[in-house]
Amino acid sequence: MSVRSHRATPILIAFVASATAVAAAALSGGDFVEQSRLAARWTARASFLIFLVAYSAAALDTLFPSALTRRIRQRRRQWGLGFALAHTVHLAALVHALNLTGEQRPLLTLIGGGFAYVLILAMALTSNDASQRALGAAWKRLHGFGIHYIWFIFFFSYAGRLADPERMATGLIFAPLAVAALGLRMLAWIKKRRARTLASAI
Ligand code: HEM
Repeated sequence: MSVRSHRATPILIAFVASATAVAAAALSGGDFVEQSRLAARWTARASFLIFLVAYSAAALDTLFPSALTRRIRQRRRQWGLGFALAHTVHLAALVHALNLTGEQRPLLTLIGGGFAYVLILAMALTSNDASQRALGAAWKRLHGFGIHYIWFIFFFSYAGRLADPERMATGLIFAPLAVAALGLRMLAWIKKRRARTLASAI
C-alpha cells in the first residue's frame, strides 16, 4: 500500500464510522423522528471515538512508545481531519433531527456548540504545513485551545447525562473516557518534563 493511502486511512475510518452510525440509526429507529434522533446521538459517538485518537495520539506515543503509537502520532493531522469530517456528519444529522422534530436547543448549547464548529473549521483549514509555517505561534495557540475546547464540550455533554436516569448509562461510559484521555495527556506532560529536568541536570 502506498504512503498516500496510509495517510488517508484515518479519514476513511472516520467516514465508515459516521456512515455506520447513520445506517444503524436508520435501521433501529421505529419512525423518521426516532431515526433522526438516534442519528444525531450516534454520529456524535462516532466522532467522539475519532476525536479520542487525535487527542491522545502524542500522549500514547510518549507513554507507550511502539511502532503502532509512532504511526498513529505521525498521522495525527489525518485523525484530526477525520474528526472534522465525522463532526460535519453530526452537524448534518442534528440539523435534520431539529428540523424534523421542531425542537429548540437552549441558547447556551447553540453558542457553545456553534463556537466549537467555528474552531473545528479553522483547525481543519489550517491543518497543513504552509498554514503552520505562516501562523507560527498563533497556530499552536489555535490548535492547543481548540482541541481542549472540543474536549470540554464532549465532557460537558456526556457528564450532563449523568444527572438524567434515562441517559445515565451513556454518561457513565463516555464521560470517563474523556477524563482518561485528559489523564493520558497529563501523564505524558509529566514524563516529558521529568526527562527535560534530568537532561538539564546532566
Ligand atoms: C450548535 C451546535 C450543536 C447542536 C445544536 C447539537 C445538537 C445535538 C443533538 C440534537 C443531539 C442529540 C441529543 C439527544 O437526543 O440525546 C446531540 C448529541 C450530542 N452532541 Fe451535539 N450539537 C451541537 C454541537 C456539538 C459539538 C460541537 C459537540 C462536541 C464537540 C457535540 C457533542 C454531542 C454529544 C457528545 C452528544 C451526545 C451523544 C450521545 O448521546 O451519545 N455536539 N447534539
